[in-house]
Amino acid sequence: MIRIFIDGRPVPAPEGATILEAAEANGILIPHFCRHASLRPVGSCRICLVAIEGLPKLEPACATAVRQDMKVATSTPPVREARRDVLELLLAEHPLDCPICDKAGECRLQDYAHEYGLTGGAFDEERRGRAKLVRIGPHLLLDRERCVLCTRCVRFLAEVTGTHELGLFERGNRTEVGLYEDQPVASIDAGNLVDLCPVGAITDNRFRFRTRCWFLEARPSICPFCARGCAVDADYHPGFARRAGTSGIYRIRPRVDPEVNGGWICDRGRYGCLDLNRDRLAGARRILAGGEEDWSWERAIGFLAERCRESAPTVLLSSRLTSEEMSLAGRLFRDGLGARRIAFLDPPRGEAEGLLLRPDRSANGLGADRLGFDRTADPVEAVRGASLLIILAADPAGAIGLAGREDVLASIRTKILIAPQKTGLERAMDLVLGSATVFEKGGTFIGEGGGMRAFEPVHPSRLDVRSEGWILAALAEALRADPPVFGGGR
Ligand code: FES
Repeated sequence: MIRIFIDGRPVPAPEGATILEAAEANGILIPHFCRHASLRPVGSCRICLVAIEGLPKLEPACATAVRQDMKVATSTPPVREARRDVLELLLAEHPLDCPICDKAGECRLQDYAHEYGLTGGAFDEERRGRAKLVRIGPHLLLDRERCVLCTRCVRFLAEVTGTHELGLFERGNRTEVGLYEDQPVASIDAGNLVDLCPVGAITDNRFRFRTRCWFLEARPSICPFCARGCAVDADYHPGFARRAGTSGIYRIRPRVDPEVNGGWICDRGRYGCLDLNRDRLAGARRILAGGEEDWSWERAIGFLAERCRESAPTVLLSSRLTSEEMSLAGRLFRDGLGARRIAFLDPPRGEAEGLLLRPDRSANGLGADRLGFDRTADPVEAVRGASLLIILAADPAGAIGLAGREDVLASIRTKILIAPQKTGLERAMDLVLGSATVFEKGGTFIGEGGGMRAFEPVHPSRLDVRSEGWILAALAEALRADPPVFGGGR
């Protein structure tokens, strides 16, 4: 560690750190656009200029390393004036469309312009129009008038994903971000560009114009779309009292976890999490030959208990169950009821793609392994000859293995499905119970490397659903088994 002075205050700094890093670590904020902690510094936007004693010019804090006893001034009149000039130059092109911009409320340019008292451009010349709606990827739109050429997007695709889809084209005031040979950004990690863009030039068509960021609360959770278990923030809107249906999760963003996902997430998790609320199952429904009947939870649990008393169940579990729920299922079905068979409805394995996505697409496969469940069993084979089948399809993608196998299912006397979303199996069942999604319950997954990934419910469900833990505990109670203490969810 060495010592430097920032605005007269002595602060410790690791050797080799930049002035900006040292300042940030000591709670001193220096404005920045192009600098990002996970990308190489390029010192191109010049908004982070600071004065260093003994040097004739202002220097970029993001690209200047600290030296022992260096004296740095971050807000003297010349420094503020230089930053103001940089902002004026940026605002010569950047439209003042904050009232309709998705980034408003979390935009650095908006914040700095406000801080430096800039309410409009200083130029009388006509603005040079640029393309405002350039589709650069399946979910991404680029507004070139808003772009401040910080090149974070270009550097992310060069340094982090290595896919190089974006580059800087032209020269001087014609410089713009563009695609090579009009090939769209195909990286499965492309959604990170939206989070990286400091000014709302790259926006996400799943979020555009849907809400304002100040209505959202970032609530921590874990992505359930592969074995990595990336840390995410689910941006939750509590809803407007006078407008029904406005509550819910509007956006998923990475939460920094250096051990697991750094500061990134893949698009499979980013958009898959938004789809968890689609095609929901709710309440308890008895499926009869001529139609359906809505049942109370009490009646449904009573029916389930009665069938469990009559015959040993065959149980299909999903690795999107928490470790607590799996443990409860093991104690209840395996140890208590002597289940005929317990198998897993894991989603099919895939390729390792991009930075983070693992071939094992199970959220809590390691939890299942630790609890001694066999994840290799073939679900179709496992259910053959069963008389009572209980399917906990917390991850509906796992049900693919049974879809279309009515020939096997038809011979089973009683079939019960517990799932948060439609699986395609509903019509072949006798009783269907709607369960909570990962964001509506709490518990623990075991992440890659064996780390515990504990999470709380992000929000209460608007639907009449119960967590699988609740359903299993209620069943244990109805069977007068010893109901273990179980936390999280409803
Ligand atoms: Fe330092 Fe851009 S943040 S030059």
